[in-house]
Formats: sequence, structure tokens, C-alpha cells
Amino acid sequence: MRGGENGCMSTSRMAPQPEIRILDNSADLFQAAAVEFAALASEAVRSKGTFSVALSGGSTPKGLYTLLANDAVPSIPWGRICFFWGDERHVPPVNPESNYGMAYEAMLSKVPVRLQNVFRIHAEVKDADAAAVAYEQDLKTFFNLRPGEFPRFDLTLLGLGPDGHTASLFPGTTALHEKDRLVVANWVDKFNAYRFTLTLPVLNQSACVMFLVSGQEKAEILREVLENPHADLPAQKVRPADGRLLWLVDSAAASGLSQRIKDGWQPS
Ligand code: 6PG
Repeated sequence: MRGGENGCMSTSRMAPQPEIRILDNSADLFQAAAVEFAALASEAVRSKGTFSVALSGGSTPKGLYTLLANDAVPSIPWGRICFFWGDERHVPPVNPESNYGMAYEAMLSKVPVRLQNVFRIHAEVKDADAAAVAYEQDLKTFFNLRPGEFPRFDLTLLGLGPDGHTASLFPGTTALHEKDRLVVANWVDKFNAYRFTLTLPVLNQSACVMFLVSGQEKAEILREVLENPHADLPAQKVRPADGRLLWLVDSAAASGLSQRIKDGWQPS
């Protein structure tokens, strides 16, 4: 365990219980996420000078990135934040599918980040495995890892796909079984393409994992992930060993959850 060792205000050694917070709507969801982001960033910078965050892609986090870029929450230490990506599509940064491209447009191009603190996956490289190995090396260098060690992000942002995937860990794909690598090029049949993704050991080393889930179309899969322990879905395998696991969901996405969860009961 290195880098971000005391991020996220959680010092327990036991895998803490997931926290599920249901917000009325997506605007409240993004506001709550922005407040968490700012608090975690300030705490990490206060305690160790930097804040390392792995950004998620897809459409949902764009609302958060836009809010952060519009100063929705004060005093974010932009100059001390080191940006990474939890996953990426095998496309150049200018491609509309690019997760880096989305975050750059929505946030990074609008706030005073230091370019040397932005570590994107060079997904324009044709040889996907080579691009994954290069990113792995970036992580090893930044977190000053010794062989066998995994990086500890202060915050890892994740989403939830309709099939229960998270990052680019899709059901039935080889990356789900990776135990040693930090980043892999994961072949995904349904896209007939590679996706770059952090592996489960890295996700589960995070000091804080924050899932953002919004919309009615996610209701069924969210219920499966949070309430069906036998579903064996990729998102269910994200359980930080010594970190916080926070689910921020809006009421539309939470509409399929049992009343006890809606009433605040937290699954173990
Ligand atoms: C990606 C993401 C992926 C995403 C889910 C949810 O690159 O697509 O990282 O894991 O979080 O697919 O996507 P939406 O937010 O678009 O529903």
C-alpha cells in the first residue's frame, strides 16, 4: 500500500460497510458528490500535500465534473490534484468516445490544474497491451511502488453499467480475474474492441470508492448489485479492503431498492 495512505478520513483496517446515500435527483447527486470530492481533496492535501483521484468515464460523471469546474464547491486545491483514469476506450483523446476527452472538456480545460499532474491513458496507441503497460509504469512511478505493491488512490470514481460492469470490468471478461497487473487492455466482445481498465486489486486498494448512479434505467441493476449477493456482478467485487465504499444514487436509480435500504439500512 503506497500513495494516498491517509486519504478519505477512514482509518479502520476492517472493510467498512458500504454507505448508500439516496439523493432526490441528479442535481442533488452531483452536488453531494462535489462536496465529498472537495472534502476528500482538502483532507488529502492537508495531510500529505497531494490528492490522487481516478476519474470515471461514461455519461454520468460529466454532471459532477461540470459542477466542479463551475466552482459549485469552494476552495478545491486544483494545483495539488493528480488526475488518473479508472478506464478508457481504445480511441484518441479527440474522439467523442474518449473518457479523457470528456473530462478535459467538462472540467480539466476550465480549472487551474497542473498539466504534469494529469496522467491520461495513451489510448491512441494501436498496440493496446503496450498502452496498458505504459500506464502501469506511470502508476508505479507516481506511487513509487515496489514489486507486488498496488497504488492507493485517495478517491476512485466509478459508474455502473446496465450489465453490472464498472470501470471496464465487464461480465465474463478476462480482466476480472487479474490478480497482479495494475492496468490491462481488456478485450470486450460486444464492442469488438479493447478497453483499458484498472484491475480489481487496484480498485480495492482505494482509500475511497465513490459510485455515482443516476436514472431509472439503472434501477434494476442497482437492486441486483446492492441486494442480490448471488448475482456475482463485477461492481459487487469492488469492496475496498481498507477504505470507504460510498454509493451516491438518485431516487430514480434507487426506485427498485427495498424499503429498508430506502429507510437507511446499509447492507454489509
Ligand atoms: C465507461 C465507464 C463505465 C461507465 C458505465 C456507466 O468508460 O463507459 O467508465 O464503467 O461508468 O458504463 O456509464 P454511464 O454513466 O454512461 O451510464
